Amino acid sequence: MEQKIEALLSEMTLDEKIGQMCQVDPGVFGTEEEVIEAVRKGQLGSLLNLIGAGKVNEIQRIAVEESRLGIPLIIGRDVIHGYRTIFPIPLGMAASWNEDLIREAASIAAKEAASEGINWTFAPMIDVSRDPRWGRIAESGGEDPLLNAMIARAMVQGFQGDDLANPLTIAACAKHYIGYGAAEGGRDYNTTMIPDIELYNVYLPPYRAAVNAGVATVMTAFNEINGIPASGHQRNVRGILKKDLGFDGFVVSDWASIQEMIDHGFAADEKHAAQLGIAAGVDMEMSSRTYANHLKALVEEGKVKMEWIDDAVRRILRVKFRLGLFDNPYVDESLADSVLVNPRHLEVARKLAEESIVLLKNKNELLPLKKGTKVALIGPMADQPYEQLGTWIFDGNENDSKSVLDAFYEYNGANNTFFAEGLAYTRDKSTKGFRAVERAIAQADVVVAVVGEEAILSGEAKSLAELDFVGAQNQLLELAASKGKPLIMVVMSGRPGGLYKTRHLADAILYAWHPGTMAGPAIVNLIFGEAVPSAKLPVTFPKGEGQVPIYYAHKMSGRPADSTSWTYIDDIPVKAVQHSLGNTNHTLDYGFKPLYPFGYGLSYTTFEYSDISLSAKTIQIGDVIKVSATITNTGKREGTEIVQLYVRDLVGSYTRPVRELKDFKRITLKPGESERVTFELNSSQLGFYHPNGRYVIEPGDFHVWIAPNAADGLMGKFRLE
Ligand code: NOJ
Repeated sequence: MEQKIEALLSEMTLDEKIGQMCQVDPGVFGTEEEVIEAVRKGQLGSLLNLIGAGKVNEIQRIAVEESRLGIPLIIGRDVIHGYRTIFPIPLGMAASWNEDLIREAASIAAKEAASEGINWTFAPMIDVSRDPRWGRIAESGGEDPLLNAMIARAMVQGFQGDDLANPLTIAACAKHYIGYGAAEGGRDYNTTMIPDIELYNVYLPPYRAAVNAGVATVMTAFNEINGIPASGHQRNVRGILKKDLGFDGFVVSDWASIQEMIDHGFAADEKHAAQLGIAAGVDMEMSSRTYANHLKALVEEGKVKMEWIDDAVRRILRVKFRLGLFDNPYVDESLADSVLVNPRHLEVARKLAEESIVLLKNKNELLPLKKGTKVALIGPMADQPYEQLGTWIFDGNENDSKSVLDAFYEYNGANNTFFAEGLAYTRDKSTKGFRAVERAIAQADVVVAVVGEEAILSGEAKSLAELDFVGAQNQLLELAASKGKPLIMVVMSGRPGGLYKTRHLADAILYAWHPGTMAGPAIVNLIFGEAVPSAKLPVTFPKGEGQVPIYYAHKMSGRPADSTSWTYIDDIPVKAVQHSLGNTNHTLDYGFKPLYPFGYGLSYTTFEYSDISLSAKTIQIGDVIKVSATITNTGKREGTEIVQLYVRDLVGSYTRPVRELKDFKRITLKPGESERVTFELNSSQLGFYHPNGRYVIEPGDFHVWIAPNAADGLMGKFRLE
């Protein structure tokens, strides 16, 4: 392959090379004739947002048969959490902690997309996100580097399979490199300040995992980091990503992010922006045309090295060769019919939705309900086949969706379901519909309120300043709770929020994120016990926006807050027992605890953790230590528990987080059954990156937990010598 690339490269003119480095959306670029003409002249290497096997084949034929060198186009699209069959939003997928299922979902998305001519998706998004105000937290794997790394691996393998040349696999794109999730104030596209120690230990690990999994492409981010836009960041792209991590695929800019370096105040004009982009190592420019318009002159003026251009083109050709596009550029036009939303895909979508929905509360074991229970189904998200799909669903179709109402009718019967949405949509402030809600509740024994936020309230450029439920949803919940009947709250949302002022109203809470096409059946299966919740939060659940950022892997500080020094009412420290301990790291109104910790989630059964043991008290660098505990199902149902392994390095040459997730395992236990769970912790997992990018393992004392969440668990100690 490398020889073929060299041979082709040697035949290419500078114009043709630059052409490969340009990607446009045909709808934005110009008329159909203009697009065809540019492809014919070899002026475009890629198109995004063109779908349909027939249409793609038509334009591909021009590239292959009518351009001078016949180099095929690569066709990109945002296939983020499914193509036609929509899976839970990525944050929901992350809550499943189920690598196999996420991989399978990505492979289904790849098949469906490939059948419509797409050979490259702009996913996975693996930006560590610690701010629920940021709308794009919905697209991420949440706050933890290890969990995001798992998602990176699962999705890259799922999209790309074992062989990218297989017509049913597509190239993945790890994005947005790097630090996009750290936007100041949670406002999208905003400035980030990320010290190198944080870059290496928190933001980079998911990208390292994606590269190790063979990701074909990487997208640079919109944001600046410490004063340098990500798309013009030579050290980060050419240095860390390409050289240090050994990434050999190509780097694409985000939409116009090269040109936006002018707005950032980093480039003086378009020509300067092109120079900065290529110098940084961005191989393909998405949408804006600074490469097309200026690279040639920049090369001729000696401002851009020819070797940079050649490196970029080699990388782009490499991915096209890997995709098998030179041998087989066309898509089988008959595929889509059998591939799109077939029953097997819907089945996986339902299973993943069930596994992504977190049970946060279940007072007096209200859930699961018995089939045939008379239920008042209320709330603005109860019958929203489109909104339940969540953000970034270009090709999702609400006609494929089953809403919660549909699923209630189907499973529990229309006679037992009294529906009144109360609010027409989540931001609705009118209480006109509340009378109907009261009537529905009067006929029922239990109330299920489906609340939250529509798809449009999370995702790109959909940041919020406040995390409480929008519209009159709090009043609706208060009304529902006032009728003396048990209340089950189901929340569909792109972010963790809304519960601080409402959770006391509900007897049970299922936090569903946006579950996708099969939201209804998944939620109904959980409510009636056909499925048992197993999901755990992939992100710390804050009390409110004033507590953000809050994440489990925080630093100790010199004045750690400590629950023993305060009296608590409703999680808020109201009285200092020893006043002198009051000067600690907390706020007077929220205390220091989040609403729910990272990794938290209940089941319809209970699990007891006991007897932690370590295979050694002291280990040497190079050794493995085994950490074990017994997990017992102490409840009455079979259930799956996600058992988590955390570590704390007590003293470091740089301070270390109070806990770091190192591993996790899913175990399924019958009632009364126990399992001894053993984690093997290699000393190589105990180090961290210094700000110079060097990985250092420092001898000393460590704490280790086997835990059901980041705030709990059994602790052991060992020493690394
Ligand atoms: C901008 C978004 O930031 C990115 O995630 C997406 O892939 C591109 N637009 C293409 O639609």
